[in-house]
Amino acid sequence: MPETKQLNFTPENTALAGQILREGGLVAIPTETVYGLAANAFNGEACARIFAAKGRPSDNPLIVHIASLDQWPALVAEVPEAAVRLAEAFWPGPLSIILPKSDKIPDQVSGGLDTVAVRMPSHPAAAAVIRAAGVPLAAPSANLSGSPSPTTAQHVLRDLQGRIDAVLDGGACEVGVESTVISLAGKTPRVLRPGGISVEQLRAVLGEVEVDEAVLHQLAPGQQAVSPGMKYKHYSPKTRVIIVKGSFVAFQRFVSNKKDCAALCFACEGEQLDIPFVEVGREHDSLSQAHRLFDALRRVDELGVSVAYARCPDTDGVGLAVLNRLLRAAAFTVVDLNGAAVIGLTGPTGAGKSTVAELLQKKHAFAWIDADQTARGVTEKGSPLLPVLAEHFGADILDETGALIRSKLAARAFASPEKTALLNQLTHPAVTERIFAQVEQLSAAGTKAVLVDAAALYESKIDKLCAFTAVVTASEPVRLRRIMARDKIDEQSARLRMKAQLSAEDYEKNADVIVRNEPPFDVETEAEKIFERYKELTENE
Ligand code: TXA
Ligand code: MG
Repeated sequence: MPETKQLNFTPENTALAGQILREGGLVAIPTETVYGLAANAFNGEACARIFAAKGRPSDNPLIVHIASLDQWPALVAEVPEAAVRLAEAFWPGPLSIILPKSDKIPDQVSGGLDTVAVRMPSHPAAAAVIRAAGVPLAAPSANLSGSPSPTTAQHVLRDLQGRIDAVLDGGACEVGVESTVISLAGKTPRVLRPGGISVEQLRAVLGEVEVDEAVLHQLAPGQQAVSPGMKYKHYSPKTRVIIVKGSFVAFQRFVSNKKDCAALCFACEGEQLDIPFVEVGREHDSLSQAHRLFDALRRVDELGVSVAYARCPDTDGVGLAVLNRLLRAAAFTVVDLNGAAVIGLTGPTGAGKSTVAELLQKKHAFAWIDADQTARGVTEKGSPLLPVLAEHFGADILDETGALIRSKLAARAFASPEKTALLNQLTHPAVTERIFAQVEQLSAAGTKAVLVDAAALYESKIDKLCAFTAVVTASEPVRLRRIMARDKIDEQSARLRMKAQLSAEDYEKNADVIVRNEPPFDVETEAEKIFERYKELTENE
């Protein structure tokens, strides 16, 4: 495809956009929510090109955009009374209404479903282009599938330059997050995606409105999404996003001293932090956050850090949409600073992590989670991870009952650094998820601090979720003696084990607190350093 035309919003360009669309082309258009990538909704081939341009899975249906109510009946089986009331209250505006579709809707638009989502955008440019085209326009957000939705023409071009015919530049989108998607195809009206119209507003018109579980919760493996779009990881910058719940003061302490990270924070907060930041609207002002969110997610990638810690938005009004998008950008990773403090505990084998953990457990009632044990747990029989591992490492790593033969997996996974990395990539998220589910339970039971004891704390990136990390160390000869005595092995085998880990220097380089467990240091006094650090972080909140 030739270069993408960049058109300002003028009457001539509107007519040109209409013509391109009538001829089966693709034009990105501004709407009040985000930019949409439009095609003639009655032209299945043109709509198929949308999927190709975006790299979008073909089972994810498109929203059809209309400019007047009289375009609606041709698209759906019927327009029920509840739908009319919603349209009267919120159209033109950021609400998409799902109803059983008419047979004029091509399969490419409905993604094989028997329903179709329709909305009437309020942006004058969107309305003008629909009129100029003379047909309803199918339009998903005009981004590459998986990246943040575009709220400016520049965002569109960054993703789709050369892949679409034109973009009509109508400036920055007002709302900033996509439309609310509500289904009227079932018994009770159901919000499948929160957006520019809040659940409270919908309830005021319809009475009972359900909110789909997928809005705020991750689907379990194999669980069906009502709205196909909800099952994909979405809106993600390349930088890893971690949501941090709690006050700004707690956030400030959490990120202080953290390396290689940035903050996604609210207005006027950034300058009070000692890390790079992008501000995303004002605190407790969901409209301003929605307006800035996607641009902020894109800007985070320009900072060149590996993690962005995001302040957690409120969930009322449009805040629900902001949190919904942020949760997907974060792949549902949330650190709750209102819960127990999570302290990463690690160190080379033989240094005595367990001794230190036991001391803190006894003296300060810290809880202690052993990550190695958790890792064994996620590969127990029946775990959804096992088929995935079998796919990558061979079906024969499972015995005839479906249980994992650990020695076989180990032999394959440790055969090369690439294979080891693959195993970690497949298992670490599940392990981390389970550890944090345990932390949540412990928090609910009133635990104040949890030690997460993991030899691979830094490799698994669990350290990024910890308030701080502590490394237990001892010199090499001391560790060697301890390993040989503990595991009853010879010197050579003990040395092999030591070699398989990070060097003692690497551990220490990453640590916030170093605990020396060998003479002349007194291990009890040394372990207290962890408690002191914990106290500093939690004092006067
Ligand atoms: O604000 C918006 O809605 C923007 C602008 C361009 O209008 N459009 C947009 O489209 O966000 P898209 O394709 O990025 O998201 C549409 C969402 C997807 O999650 C999709 O799965 C869902 O709506 N959807 C569309 N039709 C559906 C249907 N018939 N049943 C269930 N979900 C549907
Ligand atoms: Mg989208």
